[in-house]
Amino acid sequence: MLEYSAKSGSPEKQRTACLVLGIFETRKLSPAAELVDQASEGLIGSILRRGDMDGKAGDTLLLHHVPNIQAERVLLVGLGKEREFDLKAYQKAMVATVQALNERGSTECVSFLSELPVKGCEFPDNLTQAVLSIENARYRFDQLKSKRDEPRRPLRRLTFVIPHRRDLLDAEATLRQAAALVTGINLTRDLANLPGNLCTPSYLADQARKLTETYPQLSTEVLDESRMEKLGMGALLAVARGSAQPPKLIVMEHMGGEAGQAPVVLVGKGVTFDTGGISLKPGEKMDEMKYDMSGAATVLGLLSICAELQLPINVVGIVPTVENMPDGQAIKPGDIVTSLSGQTIEILNTDAEGRLILCDALTYAARYKPDVLIDIATLTGACVIALGRVPSGLWSNHRGLANELTRAGEASGDRVWEMPLWEDYQELLKSNFADMANIGGREGGAISAACFLSRFTSEHRWAHLDIAGTAWVSGEKKGATGRPVPLLARFLMDRATRRNA
Ligand code: BES
Ligand code: MN
Ligand code: ZN
Repeated sequence: MLEYSAKSGSPEKQRTACLVLGIFETRKLSPAAELVDQASEGLIGSILRRGDMDGKAGDTLLLHHVPNIQAERVLLVGLGKEREFDLKAYQKAMVATVQALNERGSTECVSFLSELPVKGCEFPDNLTQAVLSIENARYRFDQLKSKRDEPRRPLRRLTFVIPHRRDLLDAEATLRQAAALVTGINLTRDLANLPGNLCTPSYLADQARKLTETYPQLSTEVLDESRMEKLGMGALLAVARGSAQPPKLIVMEHMGGEAGQAPVVLVGKGVTFDTGGISLKPGEKMDEMKYDMSGAATVLGLLSICAELQLPINVVGIVPTVENMPDGQAIKPGDIVTSLSGQTIEILNTDAEGRLILCDALTYAARYKPDVLIDIATLTGACVIALGRVPSGLWSNHRGLANELTRAGEASGDRVWEMPLWEDYQELLKSNFADMANIGGREGGAISAACFLSRFTSEHRWAHLDIAGTAWVSGEKKGATGRPVPLLARFLMDRATRRNA
């Protein structure tokens, strides 16, 4: 991570290796660029008039020997049209700054882009968004490459200029908070990107325990197969049967709130690899099923953020984790199992395994008497068909909770879209032989999956996030996104602020 700091001041007086100034389209100087232009007797304006840059979003131009200022260099960054300067354009400019300065000799800079008003994103959120977008662009998963390609003299320190000196403490607190978010998001991305041969259920359990060493106020308990058998988690254990990897149920507690205050309970799907089982998936893109533990990775990332920020609320993370494999011991279509809730399930498709492990974890969550219960899962391909890769799917049995999550999504830029949880869909799960089937057919597949989970959560205020379309990207830039950590971190931080007020 870069070292971030904040200050206020005027551009011509900054002693820095590089001063970063914005230029709007077409050739319109931002206020700070205007000041430097005046100090340098019109140098910036004359360079722009010569046509070296016109302010197109993401363009950059590095200037040396700008007279009458204290900085060694000036980087001009294109911002696009001033009227359209929204969060996206601002993030693009921030990322362009860092990309331009890596390899160009400046290991440190002072940016005046953070002074600019951004449509729909006010101080201090603009600082959080700057840090998150820069660190998002800087992220690499190269721990398994034998050679890493890094810039020779990368940018290391970035100072954001803020308009009002009185906001300095607020800005510094925001930057510390943003750094904690980045650490959590990157933990989530690293865990998700790790391949299935390394990131097994036991590995996830070890990582959860390791977090407890970093943050003594966190506690982790791991239930093994025999404990789960005694409890009666027949649905979770059924999925694990086909794998040589033993299943785990990871339970993490961050009790930062008052004793007795009902916790937020987060449940994350942790299928470390999903082959589909006996209902085997086709081979194409099957490697991406290593991401089927992204919900689990989200929960670990969030608990690290809660601990790092010492959020004054109680949060419990529950991660059911298994590998879904075909094998002589594996479950078969038609098998009937008894879940921890006592309800029986006919497994018509072994590839609908997520809901089988989640239902037992959701039943287990009841012992925490949650204030709200939220599960996070790469649950259905159907969700990607319905919503694409822009929002995560949201289902909830509680209006207030759905609204709270929707608002946190808007505020963080990590959005959700609510889907129906109507009674009409429940009949899709009818079984001739058990209390329910584990699939509801292709039509509305993401909805019947949510309906299945709702049968295990009716006692609580509950929400389900289907992150199948948002947790990672495919193709050339294949990799974990860290979503929905920004959304849920915002949700938890807002709750912590309200508790404090
Ligand atoms: N992990 C998958 C869902 C998934 C598939 C997410 C592709 C992202 C991309 C899940 O376990 C699954 O296989 N779901 C099935 C359910 C079906 C059998 C009812 C699906 O979506 O096809
Ligand atoms: Mn599956
Ligand atoms: Zn799955």
